[in-house]
Amino acid sequence: MRTHHLNGGSLKPYWPRMKTILRKSRHSDIPFLREMLYEAVFWRDGATRPSFEEGLAYPEVSKALADWGRAGDTAVIASVDSIPVGAAWYRYWTDSNSIRGYVDKETPVIVIAVHRDCRHQGVGTRMMEWLIDYASQNSVQKLSLSASKDNYAIDLYRQLGFREHVDKGDWFIMVREI
Ligand SMILES: CC(C)(COP(=O)(O)OP(=O)(O)OC[C@H]1O[C@@H](n2cnc3c(N)ncnc32)[C@H](O)[C@@H]1OP(=O)(O)O)[C@@H](O)C(=O)NCCC(=O)NCCS
Repeated sequence: MRTHHLNGGSLKPYWPRMKTILRKSRHSDIPFLREMLYEAVFWRDGATRPSFEEGLAYPEVSKALADWGRAGDTAVIASVDSIPVGAAWYRYWTDSNSIRGYVDKETPVIVIAVHRDCRHQGVGTRMMEWLIDYASQNSVQKLSLSASKDNYAIDLYRQLGFREHVDKGDWFIMVREI
């Protein structure tokens, strides 16, 4: 069930006096990570967007957060007045158990989303920088992600040093050396 409500549905009118805090995730953040997973996968608005429950029930989607807490799992939460507004995380995968964006088992794959009322305010950039910094401190050599070619998020990833690594047709695998 989706749980958080942002001042009746919108943070925007309050944004100028709100301070975004970044912190490492806790076990209790898993429901919010699921919300952000839904936003990350089904980012296109429109009739084809499944319901939250349906979308997260797809095996290819639900596996992204299955057994959260495995070695190396790392997530950052952005919050305003203790209300989570965005999340980004990376996880290691294997040749036999991987998600979109996978390159190899040494390269964790990033997933990111910001609550729709809080986008384009720099939150996504800050969370990506947090993950890159954390990866650097933990001897991660590379990070990867998947990006649809028509998602403006590609610009964000390029600005942060990610480069197109594999062209998959309508999406790229992008990689950043740490
Ligand atoms: C992609 C996402 C995580 C970015 O987070 P954000 O907080 O909105 O990003 P930022 O405000 O830090 O913006 C970073 C850059 O992204 C691009 N960008 C962000 N919002 C944009 C918009 N509405 N239109 C065009 N470009 C945009 C710009 O290049 C921006 O840089 P700039 O501010 O210097 O122009 C967020 O928009 C989101 O959750 N989108 C839906 C889920 C999704 O698509 N996830 C990624 C799947 S690959």
